[in-house]
Amino acid sequence: MDRLERNAGLDGIADSVRRVVRGLPLGRGRDVLHGRWLGHPVHPLMVQLPVGSWFSAAVLDLLPGQLRGARALIGVGLAAAGPAAVAGWVDWAELQRQQMRVGLVHAAANITAVALYSGSLAARIRGRSGLGKALGFAGLSAVSLGGALGGHLAYRQAAGANHSEVVPHLVTLGWHEIGAVADFPVGQAVRRHIDDVTVLVVRESGNKVHVLADRCSHMGGPLTEGVIADGCVQCPWHGSVFRLADGWNVRGPATAPQPAFDTRITDGHVEACLRLDETRAGKTTDAA
Ligand code: FES
Repeated sequence: MDRLERNAGLDGIADSVRRVVRGLPLGRGRDVLHGRWLGHPVHPLMVQLPVGSWFSAAVLDLLPGQLRGARALIGVGLAAAGPAAVAGWVDWAELQRQQMRVGLVHAAANITAVALYSGSLAARIRGRSGLGKALGFAGLSAVSLGGALGGHLAYRQAAGANHSEVVPHLVTLGWHEIGAVADFPVGQAVRRHIDDVTVLVVRESGNKVHVLADRCSHMGGPLTEGVIADGCVQCPWHGSVFRLADGWNVRGPATAPQPAFDTRITDGHVEACLRLDETRAGKTTDAA
């Protein structure tokens, strides 16, 4: 799998497929497929149905007299595979180069599985149950390989993970001075550090100051290099939009909001304090 990450021979086809996926007229549906409404990618959830159905069909194939049940489960798996694949492709089109290479082979393994299960279903419908079972087990092998590659993508390469999750563990509680008010020109992004966390600072007219963690929750892109407009910042890497006031991810592909800080001005200096919801407060206390 590590060699796969380094295989530049996959880049030509990856670029072509990415152009097609990014060109799909999905509108707001793209964020739905990313899982912004859920708070994390929806693709891993959607693959449970085809994988579970196909695995269950394999169990039935090992038992006597279960041909009809196995055939129905394979059909259910095939029907569910399409939507899961679309969500996966939409996520894939916003990954980094090394992740795209692994993701391409992950998809190829799953497409092979769909082809094998289609053949399996066709064979079963024609009454050739022996061939249907053989193709089904071959399909299960292919989708298992796809699953292993998906695990590498998620856990080794952190595709789909929240890249700002660590922030509450790195910032000490309380107020931190980050500079004089005059250091922050109105409407411009300024980079500062609070403990080990890089932050984006934007001052609005009227001395309202916004501070967000700088590393984008999607893939770690630098928000200080993004575009500031309409009370939001747009990530320069894949275009996620975060509200400056509270870090809310207004637009994907980011599925997690950006850690935000409360701010105040004391004696002409800006101070920031990590805004904690209950979950984050618990995490910080645990880390301490
Ligand atoms: S890193 Fe992908 S949108 Fe920010």
